[in-house]
Amino acid sequence: MARSFLSIERLTQQFPDGAGGTMTVFENATFGVEKGEFVCILGHSGCGKSTIMNILAGLAEPTSGVVKMDGEHVSGPSLDRGVVFQNYSLLPWLTALKNVTFAVAARFPKWTKQQVIEHSTAFLEKVGLTGDAIHRKPSQLSGGMRQRVSIARAFANEPKLLLLDEPFGALDALTRGTIQDELINVWSQTEQTVFMITHDIDEAILLADRILLMTNGPLARVAESVEITIPRPRNRTEIVEHPNYYAIRNHLVQFLGQRSKELSGMSSDDIDQRPQSVHIDKTADLDIQADAMHENPRLRAISE
Ligand SMILES: Nc1ncnc2c1ncn2[C@@H]1O[C@H](COP(=O)(O)OP(=O)(O)OP(=O)(O)O)[C@@H](O)[C@H]1O
Ligand SMILES: [Mg+2]
Repeated sequence: MARSFLSIERLTQQFPDGAGGTMTVFENATFGVEKGEFVCILGHSGCGKSTIMNILAGLAEPTSGVVKMDGEHVSGPSLDRGVVFQNYSLLPWLTALKNVTFAVAARFPKWTKQQVIEHSTAFLEKVGLTGDAIHRKPSQLSGGMRQRVSIARAFANEPKLLLLDEPFGALDALTRGTIQDELINVWSQTEQTVFMITHDIDEAILLADRILLMTNGPLARVAESVEITIPRPRNRTEIVEHPNYYAIRNHLVQFLGQRSKELSGMSSDDIDQRPQSVHIDKTADLDIQADAMHENPRLRAISE
């Protein structure tokens, strides 16, 4: 089997349970992410999403198992992996622009100051930040603007892998929509691979190529990998009219509402707990119907 760009193999995480024993968050989680893919992960609070992301970022060591990127073991943080946390994590004493140039200069040490500024300004512009705003400090920016700065900073660094932990959690719906669009724009212009945690089903369907579904913890599993069979570019108002939209959405809602609980806590003897692939495509049914109507005019008459 061909190895994925990012490969997570038999990842297990245990923590002390506070009573002298151990608590297993997840066990033998095994999945891959392809180069250039946009993958979202959905699961209830506490199932271990941030723990997985911290391990992928190299900020934490798993109890056992390995993560490989481009065939190499991930251990310790690296500029090849960019992280956007929910709390923005900008340096408060630097302006928006300097928060970006600071990171870009570290990433591309041979660049001239002018190159660094031009590159950084271009990425701030991509997320809609121009003019005076880029010379303000984080405390003088709105939450949405700060989040844009951290997304611009992460993309400007051109990491091979971008890790986003609920990046839009604290934003109002309107700002969230705008930044989602900007994120997709920047992603589609680059060859970056994105792994994003979200609690928002509609956001995941809009953005992702594939959604990983986790069961509840402890002993959580990445149980399913649901392909988003809706072509790009996707538009938030039109996407709901696609025949696959509600079929996929219902599947996700049903998983989170019911099966995430039913499947939880099941320790398995399987060494590789690979997620089950789910491919939902209603357009095939519609094509068959359309063909049938074409071949049989009476059917068309009935449908009119
Ligand atoms: N350093 C730690 N020490 C002990 N337990 C921890 C530690 N970090 C996380 N946990 C526990 O591991 C489990 C998973 O935590 P994690 O933060 O990964 O969940 P999550 O899926 O990101 O949840 P949320 O959606 O609320 O952000 C939780 O039960 C949490 O209490
Ligand atoms: Mg979390």
